[in-house]
Amino acid sequence: MKRENFGSRFGAIMAMTGSAVGLGNLWRFPYMVGVYGGAAFVLVYIIVVFLLCLPILNSEMITGRHGQTNAFGAFRKLAPGTGWKWAGVLMIFTPLVVLSYYSVIGGWSIEYLYKSVCFDFTAVSRTREDLDGIFSGYISSVWAPIAGHTVFLGATALIVVLGVRKGIENFGKVMMPLLFVLVILIAVRAATLPGAGEGFAYLFRPDFSKITPEVCAAALGQGFFSLSVGFGIMLTYASYMNKSDSIGKSSLLIATSDLLFALIASCAIMPAVFAFGLSPEAGPSLLFEVLPFIFSQMPAGGVIAILFFVALLVAALTSSVSILEVGVAWLVEEKHMSRKKASLVIFVGTWILGVICSLSFGPLSHIRIFGDIIFDFLDKFSSNVLMTVGALVIVLFVGWKMKKEDVRSEFTNGGTLRTEGRLFGIMYFIIRYAAPAAILVIMISNLI
Ligand code: PFF
Repeated sequence: MKRENFGSRFGAIMAMTGSAVGLGNLWRFPYMVGVYGGAAFVLVYIIVVFLLCLPILNSEMITGRHGQTNAFGAFRKLAPGTGWKWAGVLMIFTPLVVLSYYSVIGGWSIEYLYKSVCFDFTAVSRTREDLDGIFSGYISSVWAPIAGHTVFLGATALIVVLGVRKGIENFGKVMMPLLFVLVILIAVRAATLPGAGEGFAYLFRPDFSKITPEVCAAALGQGFFSLSVGFGIMLTYASYMNKSDSIGKSSLLIATSDLLFALIASCAIMPAVFAFGLSPEAGPSLLFEVLPFIFSQMPAGGVIAILFFVALLVAALTSSVSILEVGVAWLVEEKHMSRKKASLVIFVGTWILGVICSLSFGPLSHIRIFGDIIFDFLDKFSSNVLMTVGALVIVLFVGWKMKKEDVRSEFTNGGTLRTEGRLFGIMYFIIRYAAPAAILVIMISNLI
C-alpha cells in the first residue's frame, strides 16, 4: 500500500507547527513564566529550545523520515530483532496518555468559548471570587466537562479520519495563519492597556539570581512539551515529509514559530495581568480564572474573550490531531485496520481514560496516586517521566544506534544541502553527548 504524504512543504510545516503550538504555548508557558520568575525563565527557555530541544527534534525527524513508517514500526525496521522495539511501544503509549487529559482541557476551552459567546463573564460585573468559583464548580461537576471532552475528542477524530492531506494538512494550512493573526490582535489590545509596561519588564528584564537548576529543569520539560518531542509525533509527521525537504530548516522554522507563539501569548497575558494589579503566579488556573476576570474588566473585553478562546481551541485541536495520528498510523500500518476503524478504537480508549481524568476533579477526587488526583498524576507522569525517557531514547537511538552516515545523509539529503553539511558536526555532537547528559541531569533532579 502506498503511504500518504504531505502534499507541500508549506503544508508539512504548518501541520508540524500545528502540533507544536497548542495549550503548551497559550496555557502552560505563560503560567510557567509566572511560577518560575518571569524573564529569567524566558531567557533559560530560549537557550534550551535552540541548544537542546532543536537537536532532539532533528533526531526525531531523522528517525521518522529514514524509517518511512509509524513510530512503532520505525524502531523495528531500523533496528530489527533488538530491544529497541520497546522504544516504539513507549512512543505509542505516551501520546495516548497525553491525549486523554489534553482532551479534557480542550473540553474546558469549548466551555469557556461558549461562556464568552454568551458574554457570561463580561456582561455582568464579576469579582475574582465569582470567576474562581465558576471554574472550580465547572471542573468538579460530572456532565458538563465530560460533554466538552467528548466534543473535543470527536472533532479531533473526525479530522484524522479525513487523512493526512485532506484532514491534517488542510486543517493546519488554514488554522495556523488564523491563529497567528488572532494572538497578535489580542497582544496589541493588551499592550495598549494603561500599566502594561510593567508586564513587559516582567517578561523581558531578567533577574539573573532567579536562574536555578529547578528553573532549568522546568524550562527543558516545557520545551519538550511545547515542541511535542519525545512522543513519536514529530517522528510520525516526518515520515510523511518529502525526501527533498530539509529537516534542519523545517525544524528550525517549527521551533522558532513555536517560541514566537509562546512569547506573543505571554505578551497578550502578562501585561494585562499587571495592568489590573494581579499576581502572575496563579499557576494552571491563570487562563481560566485570572484571564476571564481581566476580560470582564477591560474595555472591549467581551470580544477579546471570544477571540482568545477561539484561538485556544484552534491551537489545542491542531495539537490533539497530531497526538491521535500517532496511534492511528500505528494501527493502520501494523494492525492493518482502516483509518476509520483505527480512529474509532483510539477515540474510545482515550475517551474512557479522559472521562476518568475529568471525574478526578469531582466524584473521583478521593483517589490519590502519590498524593495527586488522577489528572495531575497523569500530567506529571507524562511530562516528567514518559516524555523525558522518550527524548532520551530518541537521542540515544540516533546518536549511538543509527549509522552516522545514515544520519548525515538524512540531515543533508544525501550531501546535497551545503549549510546542513556544515552544521552536521555540531548537531551530531549535541545529539550524541550533550543532549543525553542534559536529559539525565534533568531526570535525576526530578527524582530528588
Ligand atoms: N506541543 C503541544 C502544545 O504545546 O500544546 C501539545 C502536545 C502535543 C503535547 C503532543 C504533547 C504531545 F504529545
